[in-house]
Amino acid sequence: MDELRIRGGNPLVGEISISGSKNASLPILAASILTAAPVTLSNIPDLKDVRSMLDLLRGLGIETTPLNAGKLTIQAAELTSLVAPYELVSTMRASFLVLGSILARYGRVSVSLPGGCAIGTRPVDQHLKAFAKMGAKIDLIDGYVHANTDGRLRGTEIEMDVVTVGGTQNVLMAATLADGTTVIHNAAREPEIVDLASFLRCMGASIKGDGTNTITVTGTDTLHGCEFQVMSDRIETGTYLAATLATHGCVRLLNANPSSLIAVTTAGRKFGADITVKGSTIDISARRSRLSPVSITTTAYPGIPTDLQAQLMVVNCLANGVSTITETVFENRFMHIQELVRMGADIFLKNPTTAVINGVSRLSGTRVMATDLRASSCLVIGALAAQGESIIGRIYHLDRGYERMEDKLASLGGVVERTQT
Ligand code: EPZ
Repeated sequence: MDELRIRGGNPLVGEISISGSKNASLPILAASILTAAPVTLSNIPDLKDVRSMLDLLRGLGIETTPLNAGKLTIQAAELTSLVAPYELVSTMRASFLVLGSILARYGRVSVSLPGGCAIGTRPVDQHLKAFAKMGAKIDLIDGYVHANTDGRLRGTEIEMDVVTVGGTQNVLMAATLADGTTVIHNAAREPEIVDLASFLRCMGASIKGDGTNTITVTGTDTLHGCEFQVMSDRIETGTYLAATLATHGCVRLLNANPSSLIAVTTAGRKFGADITVKGSTIDISARRSRLSPVSITTTAYPGIPTDLQAQLMVVNCLANGVSTITETVFENRFMHIQELVRMGADIFLKNPTTAVINGVSRLSGTRVMATDLRASSCLVIGALAAQGESIIGRIYHLDRGYERMEDKLASLGGVVERTQT
């Protein structure tokens, strides 16, 4: 199993280019099922989760070219299977997003329930409730969701009980081929939803209101092929921003999408960093000897994303004073705390959703274990900032969501080596 060995204590300095967004690519790949025509995508990151989605698509009989320099062509001319198996859905929950597109195009589909997850229970009840409202018969048998329609899904009014990114995406895709108009109330507003809607419009779909909490989709009989460039990854951007702050570095991030992370750059300035934005470039300088603590509550967009909670916690661990971090999106997303404590952080849980952080002047390198994707990147940041050497185990989590992270960190002066046990 791969581990990362990191010798910390050096400020990150230099410039790197931000990759295409994982969480925009995965639903867009699932949406390519909606048309029989070829779809050409660019800025797709080369990540384990993207490869898992491509494996799933190929298993359904869909042709894809190899991913080459971020570009690939997918053609779902005819599906040979309408089943998304447990083996793939359990390892990557985003596989559940093929439910909407296959159901809309073929009128039936079987998708494994995703099962448990390291960061929370993550039910899919809102997805299923919406498809039932659109006229699908939903049966849960032997761990699989079997969805059937007697023809086409019907457009209707859908009220989401919770703001769900995946639920909004699944219904948005399905509604493009439904009979009539679908209105999604209490929709998620994340930039990745806007990117998916832009892709669907590029395929000929009629969608209004994406980026707001009410999305209206007028269904059509067929969609056509198109060429589309995926947005850049705002969570990768925020991760390198946090790493720059924690190491008191000076980093230029190229090909970013600054308007998609205003809450994060605002927090970065409150920590005491100089952050300037010009077009798609973000310059971050955090040379001050101690940063100020910033209390943070994660929320759905446009607030601070849960996917950056762990990384921003490390910055608070090294700030000069006390802060709190409250996680409101997932119920179990504090697994990194015990690992940061092993590095010398002073953190305690006030209650299951709020951590209190007393800033310390230094972290110390040690052996730690990654528990999920963003917890892994927070440990990498902690290790880069710490004095001495750290070894981070189970970094397969990191490979799911960060493209060439070691190369990017090395180009910024990070001393990072991948070893095998
Ligand atoms: C997406 O997950 C992202 N994944 C997650 O990123 C991200 O953390 C999350 O949105 C929140 O921003 C992808 O885009 C592939 P949700 P998703 O449905 O869609 C509850 C990462 O690190 N809920 O918005 O699965 C749910 O339990 C990953 O890159 C229901 O109750 O998240 C959670 O508490 C991890 N019923 C909340 O809503 C439902 O039917 C938000 O979940 C659906 C969700």
